[in-house]
Amino acid sequence: MLGVTGGIAAYKSAILVRHLCNAGAEVQVVLTQGAAQFVTPVTLQALSGRPVRDDLWDPEAEAAMGHIELARWADLILVAPATAHFMAELAQGAAPDLLTTLCLASDAPVLLAPAMNQAMWRDAATQRNAATLAADGKRLIGPAEGEQACGDVGPGRMAEPEALLEAVQAAFLSPRLAALNVLVTAGPTREALDPVRFLSNHSSGKQGYAIAKAAAEAGARVTLVSGPCGLPAPANVECIEVTSALDMHEAVQARAAEQALVIGVAAVADYRPATQALQKIKKDSAGRGAAEPPAIALVENPDIIASVAALPNGPVVVGFAAETENALDNARRKRRRKGLDAIVVNDVSNPKIGFNSDHNAATLIWADGEVELAYQGKETLAASLIQHLANLFFPSSGEGAGAVAKPTPLSVARSGRS
Ligand code: PMT
Repeated sequence: MLGVTGGIAAYKSAILVRHLCNAGAEVQVVLTQGAAQFVTPVTLQALSGRPVRDDLWDPEAEAAMGHIELARWADLILVAPATAHFMAELAQGAAPDLLTTLCLASDAPVLLAPAMNQAMWRDAATQRNAATLAADGKRLIGPAEGEQACGDVGPGRMAEPEALLEAVQAAFLSPRLAALNVLVTAGPTREALDPVRFLSNHSSGKQGYAIAKAAAEAGARVTLVSGPCGLPAPANVECIEVTSALDMHEAVQARAAEQALVIGVAAVADYRPATQALQKIKKDSAGRGAAEPPAIALVENPDIIASVAALPNGPVVVGFAAETENALDNARRKRRRKGLDAIVVNDVSNPKIGFNSDHNAATLIWADGEVELAYQGKETLAASLIQHLANLFFPSSGEGAGAVAKPTPLSVARSGRS
């Protein structure tokens, strides 16, 4: 079921209906009165092939399929665009019209694509409502940032129809990794110089935790080996906290053989200080004068995912590549050098994605193909990535369990490590 509420992004709902139908979904469109100001029922009826519903009190429609029946019919409800007003009503459990009533009356997962002016999105009330809806189990996709119809620039643009299609497809693939062991590394590592100082990086762990969550939602038994980032462990995920690259290496090596899939999202330090001072390094220690800074000698850390990829009969191994230039070429080389089945490259020179942002955009590269993962929240990107990995490397697991359609390009089975 596609709910459309009254925002300018409603014009994109026509494209969305087309994408969903092309992907094999049966789409029932439900409009609010506001939405009907932006897009006509006739357009959406023509594209979906079903009469559009917009009235809770329509005797004819209620006689055909009453709203409770309609609520039961839906396998998934996507509301795109979801206005601030609609989110406020849903967060309160109010049901003044057909769409809110259906959302309340349905057991189906509800996905919301917020779309509004950037100040409305940032407003404390909207943020409160978004948090309530997320806590109630609704999944928010976006909003994206950028230029808005009103001329403002900022967060509030509706996620693009392509990203929404991916999120819908991902939501139907929950059992795809059923009973498979998946290990994810996440966060930074800390390489100690002395008891109080360390070398590290800006990884927040958000992308890795989102991937662990998505894999668990896809039915996998997930182990998350995490550097220090202070995030709560996702539900149904075993979290092993580590500090340094050596700790992470040890934790991963100990569990690698029993995994079907290992995904290295952690920003692991390539080097660590050659020695770790037992006591805090003093300004004038080791014969240096106070003005003379210490030189830090470094030694190389083991490459964690490369060593898993080198295991005979080991798991499928997927790395991440954080690049700042020639991203695709560098990542293709990195995948081959480390012997990985696939690599996900993100351009971390863009401050809107990558390290410590809530959003990301990436390209998944494997031996025989590449697919772009459009700019979106890290959670939906994670769900989409897991869907692609399931299709590429575990094509037969969970098949037929309510999948809407296979995403593209998906013809490839397990790739060789060439
Ligand atoms: O944590 P967030 O704030 O959400 O940010 C996400 C992210 C930017 C950290 C993430 O999307 C990402 O790009 N992770 C990889 C970061 C990185 O270290 O990339 P790299 O190109 O240096 O390493 C390539 C791959 O080798 C990675 O899978 C890394 O985990 C792995 N590696 C690197 C060094 C090492 N000694 N052992 C490894 O396993």
